[in-house]
Amino acid sequence: RPKATVAVLGAAGGIGQPVALLLKLNPLIGDLRLYDIVNTPGVGADLSHINTGAKVTAFMGDAQLCDALSGCDLVIIPAGVPRKPGMTRDDLFNINAKIVKTLIEAVATYCPNAWIGIISNPVNSTVPIAAEVLKQKGVYDPLKLFGVTTLDVVRAETFVAEILGVDPKDVTVPVIGGHAGTTILPLLSQAMPALSLDDDKAKALMDRIQNAGTEVVNAKAGAGSATLSMAYAASEFADACLRALNGDTGVVLCTYVASNVTDLPFFASPVRLGKGGVEEFLPIGEMNKLEQENFEEMKGQLAINIKKGVDFVTGG
Ligand code: APR
Repeated sequence: RPKATVAVLGAAGGIGQPVALLLKLNPLIGDLRLYDIVNTPGVGADLSHINTGAKVTAFMGDAQLCDALSGCDLVIIPAGVPRKPGMTRDDLFNINAKIVKTLIEAVATYCPNAWIGIISNPVNSTVPIAAEVLKQKGVYDPLKLFGVTTLDVVRAETFVAEILGVDPKDVTVPVIGGHAGTTILPLLSQAMPALSLDDDKAKALMDRIQNAGTEVVNAKAGAGSATLSMAYAASEFADACLRALNGDTGVVLCTYVASNVTDLPFFASPVRLGKGGVEEFLPIGEMNKLEQENFEEMKGQLAINIKKGVDFVTGG
């Protein structure tokens, strides 16, 4: 298989730039396309001097979106406005919903077979928006559309490793549900290696993982939301997709996808990837009482978020 062609839409932004840098280092990528409405020539020129194989090309503005997307295998979308203190991910809806809709219309037209990873928040709603747009265009493949929730897993594994005093690379924690507040459900009872926490400590750790994005928003004091850790997570996500596209049959990832694992139409859970996208939904495993309670509570909120995305496109 030839090396992959990957586009980053929103490549000049706080997430876009570091994600482009990390993708420039990925040996599975032959062609790296940077698209934004501003500043991509500078970002592209800068990255193009790095002595790795991926060829970097910059595209700017609507007129160049077609060239940016044609022939892409994977499109990563961090375009949009970031969160400021006091805002929830849902507050971003009106601006980012329009941006995602426009960009997905272009993806549907110029690279309808590409895998798509959406970072633009609120992911709980922007992924359903993308699905509806792709459906309207007649090119929806639910197995290839993802919300990039990898950062929730990265955070959960980091915080658990801190508690256990081990290398985070040796820790796995499944994180299911959505990508905002209490819809993020880390299954701490399934952490490997095992954690033994009393209920209060488990609840506190769950809260920290659910609100880790807000921890960064507050620390940045008005300058935006998580960018570097999000870019790392997105690069891990992209690498997983590209390994699967290349024929690796053992790639497993927790990601937000159309699924029937629950009665919700979109849900993050562990999946195994194959050449055609999601190949298998892996079992969620048994939840303890605290997790089960959170799971039941979260469903209503996630359903509202999903409906908001669907309604944005269908006018419902
Ligand atoms: N097409 C392409 N790029 C766009 C568009 C568009 N229609 N509209 C905005 N952008 C670009 C901006 O020009 C900017 O370069 O998206 C980039 C966003 O970058 P930042 O403002 O720095 O925001 P960032 O912190 O990267 O967050 C982006 O990701 O995690 C989410 O909540 C976050 O939704 C937000 C998004």
